[in-house]
Amino acid sequence: MNRPGAQAQDGEIITILLVDDIPETRENIKKLLAFEADFKVVGSVGTGREGVDMAKQEKPNIIIMDINMPDMDGIQATTLITEAVPTAAVIMMSVQNDPDYLRRAMLAGARNFLTKPVLPDELYSTIRTVHTRNKPLAAQYRQIQEAGPMETRAKAEGTENRPGHIIVVYSPQGGAGCTTVATNLASGLMKEGIRVLLVDSDLQFGDVGLYLNIQAQSTLVDLVGNVEDLDTELFDNIVITHDSGLKVLLGPARPEYAEVVQQNPSSVAQILEKISGNYDFIVVDTSHTLDETTLALMDVATKILLITTPTLAAAKNTRFVMELFDKLNYPPDKSVLIMNRVPHDRNQKRFAISSEQIEKFLKRPVEIEIPLDDVTILSAVHKGVPVIAQRDRSKSPIKELVALADLFYTKLAGEEEYDDEFNDDQRNKTGRLRLNR
Ligand SMILES: Nc1ncnc2c1ncn2[C@@H]1O[C@H](COP(=O)(O)OP(=O)(O)OP(=O)(O)O)[C@@H](O)[C@H]1O
Ligand SMILES: [Mg+2]
Repeated sequence: MNRPGAQAQDGEIITILLVDDIPETRENIKKLLAFEADFKVVGSVGTGREGVDMAKQEKPNIIIMDINMPDMDGIQATTLITEAVPTAAVIMMSVQNDPDYLRRAMLAGARNFLTKPVLPDELYSTIRTVHTRNKPLAAQYRQIQEAGPMETRAKAEGTENRPGHIIVVYSPQGGAGCTTVATNLASGLMKEGIRVLLVDSDLQFGDVGLYLNIQAQSTLVDLVGNVEDLDTELFDNIVITHDSGLKVLLGPARPEYAEVVQQNPSSVAQILEKISGNYDFIVVDTSHTLDETTLALMDVATKILLITTPTLAAAKNTRFVMELFDKLNYPPDKSVLIMNRVPHDRNQKRFAISSEQIEKFLKRPVEIEIPLDDVTILSAVHKGVPVIAQRDRSKSPIKELVALADLFYTKLAGEEEYDDEFNDDQRNKTGRLRLNR
């Protein structure tokens, strides 16, 4: 007996796999799900191991997974499924609301939880919310599986103009220096004849306007409604030109407007891909929340500039992000690791993690270290200019920010154009820049 569910209007069917060792529980949930027209149970099994096999075979949208099962528990099964079928989202189900279980389930990759006995409305809304949130990520996985990341990008290159490089600046830590690095990178990439666009995709609390002392009447919000028929003229009317000549696309003027953009999480990525033929480099500042908007941007990015800081929390969270990049099949050289706020005085250094320790922990090189220097960075913010706009570029942290821009220019434009202030001694044996004070 089916009655139309709230989400069944668009005809989309959410496929579901049930994994629970108690047959009555599976039957009860199956009955509840049968009341909603947009749900389809594609499998119902009694062990974790069968759950993994069935998930591989059916590739369901949602898996409702019991935690306690005899042969292989739900947490282990979820770990295997997240690895093998990344398009499926697991909802963990348990009698107890034990925080340790929840934490372990989350680390295994579960997206949400249901407490037994499961109530119908909670079941329906949890499935629909998880499915809606998972859709963009699942679509990316599918695209990558079908085409491979490079081909996906090649498809987007079907425009007449060669698309510019999209560089997404991201850190899982708030306050790590994304906006500082993004504004300076964009500014440093500007050379004669090179077209650079800086985009603020920190949708709720973006600071690009503040850091560059610019305000805008029109923002990203005015573009998201026109993604389909976006043209250069509309785009040019919305982009602002900073005094330095840098083109800037600001984010929503107020935090509450962010929702307008987030309703279509891939809108910012789509807009940037569409206009990428008009620029050589597009630098995107993001928020530390790893939401669908940011993930969609990362997918279309040529490079992801991943910022870490010398703290334990930053190292731990950066590792999670790198693991996610691996799961998304991003090539290792798609992301570039930078360490910001590196202390130079002895006292501060005592409590900081060294870049060698970070490199060992992350198994990745830290390509540039930007020293901690409140006076230089904050005074630039107060003036509303990029730090590197100062005349003397030989002092830290300006020289490192200049070197960062040169590094990206060289990596992407393929030219040996390191800044003159750096000699070969400052490059380590692997050829990368290692800048210490
Ligand atoms: N190398 C540095 N030395 C000293 N201060 C720095 C450095 N880098 C950034 N800062 C300061 O740290 C603060 C956070 O920097 P920024 O706004 O660039 O980070 P963010 O990652 O964009 O933060 P948010 O999460 O708020 O968006 C700012 O006050 C900035 O001036
Ligand atoms: Mg910021």
